[in-house]
Amino acid sequence: MPVLTRKELSMPATEPFDLVLFGGSGDLATRKLLPALYYRDRDESLHPDGRIICVSRGEETNDAFIAQVKSNSQRVMPDEDFDSDSFDRFARRLQYVGMDVTKPEAFDPLADLLKDRPDHVRVFFFATSPSLFGVMATNLKQSGCVTEKSRVVLEKPLGHDLQSCIEINQVVGEAFDEQQIYRIDHYLGKETVQNLMALRFGNALFEPLWRGARVRDVQITVAEQIGVGGRAGYYDHSGALRDMIQNHLLQLLSIVAMEPPQSLNSDAIRDEKLKVLRALRPIEGDDVSLHTVRGQYQPGAINGQAVPGYLQEDGVAPDSLTETFVALRCQIENWRWAGVPFYLRTGKRLMKKLAEIVINFHPVPHDLFASKNRRTKANRLIIRLQPDEGVMLQIVAKHPGDAMELRPVNLNLDFAQTFQIRAWDAYERLLMDVLNGKLTLFLRRDETEQAWRWIEPILEGWANSGERPEPYVAGTWGPAQSARLIGRDGFRWHEET
Ligand code: BG6
Repeated sequence: MPVLTRKELSMPATEPFDLVLFGGSGDLATRKLLPALYYRDRDESLHPDGRIICVSRGEETNDAFIAQVKSNSQRVMPDEDFDSDSFDRFARRLQYVGMDVTKPEAFDPLADLLKDRPDHVRVFFFATSPSLFGVMATNLKQSGCVTEKSRVVLEKPLGHDLQSCIEINQVVGEAFDEQQIYRIDHYLGKETVQNLMALRFGNALFEPLWRGARVRDVQITVAEQIGVGGRAGYYDHSGALRDMIQNHLLQLLSIVAMEPPQSLNSDAIRDEKLKVLRALRPIEGDDVSLHTVRGQYQPGAINGQAVPGYLQEDGVAPDSLTETFVALRCQIENWRWAGVPFYLRTGKRLMKKLAEIVINFHPVPHDLFASKNRRTKANRLIIRLQPDEGVMLQIVAKHPGDAMELRPVNLNLDFAQTFQIRAWDAYERLLMDVLNGKLTLFLRRDETEQAWRWIEPILEGWANSGERPEPYVAGTWGPAQSARLIGRDGFRWHEET
């Protein structure tokens, strides 16, 4: 298979644009957004007439800011990806503006900077605390910065609960039309998530099997080895349910479970995802303790290195009840999925960094090959988001030799090997989609609110119980209760089988 060059793989160049990055010297901009824009610039995906205006509270000079971006980029990018000439070309797009976004008059210089280019695509990327989203949107509108070709990008978390999410949506909605609002869930930009759609809707093979009659259970795991790091200030008020389940895992679940959309039109897809969220049976009252597990990591070891427990991390309240692990048993109440448990699980300081969706099929109805102590293994489809992105179908085959002995074997599609390219980071794709006006991979208002609506009773149940999260040793797969949650149905998590 011919290996495509980076340029051949890059998306067509965008229209001329001004991208205003609020939170321009923050963690997300430094680690993800500016490197993603650098890659797209290096591969000539960005229109030559495109400015990137980085806004933050500081009072740096342009040169000092660019020098900072350069040293940060060298730190976060693999050496072979960083090229000084490409960076210098990229840096010519960068402009720094120091301002206090809570002050309406602070937006005048920004409006001046933008005013000569009213026909350019204008993107306002809010990579700040969500508490500032409302005021930034209002001030942008009032200072005349919002044009017809403007778009606003909202980073998660979109609020802290349903009410705050509605409030943000409301205020931002007064400054921008829904079609101008791009709510990011970076998991939707991951290559494998889009491949999941390709797998489901581009192959006739899977659709007849994609239902309760054939599927025994579905497991979605996003496990991380990292701890809370320097983000305790945010995380200790959030926890894994808000940080990961409300958005990333529910989005993965929606895409696994949705009906085939009528087209690839953004609303056609978002309508189907929303139906799944609406069909999720609420977990409330007594069901909270039955169908959920929350955990908090204790000191332990990751890859042989000792690591502190959550309560010992800088910035975490000494008696914090914040969960760093969640496992849930969910049910989707519709014809396709009635009776099929969907298990969701995520946590920090777990044994491996791993994100995968596992579809476990029912065993054969009549096991011709069973022996006294062995049953034939059921088929399983594993869609791996990270690391080693790919799709693996487990089937059984006869082991060479005399006996009719069946063994599980894998039909393995490894994306990196098959396509021989560096997969784009999710933010590269999402930023390009914003610049090109493609809304499909972004959440609609009703999706974000429905996800909070479903999450809230779980938060309430935990708060009312007054119980502490279950402890788990860092470097394991979470608390023992997680294995029990799935074990009650007679199943085990994928890594244990
Ligand atoms: C973010 C969460 O949305 O996703 C983080 O806020 C988490 O806590 C991160 O670490 C995981 O993303 P990825 O792409 O590294 O799996």
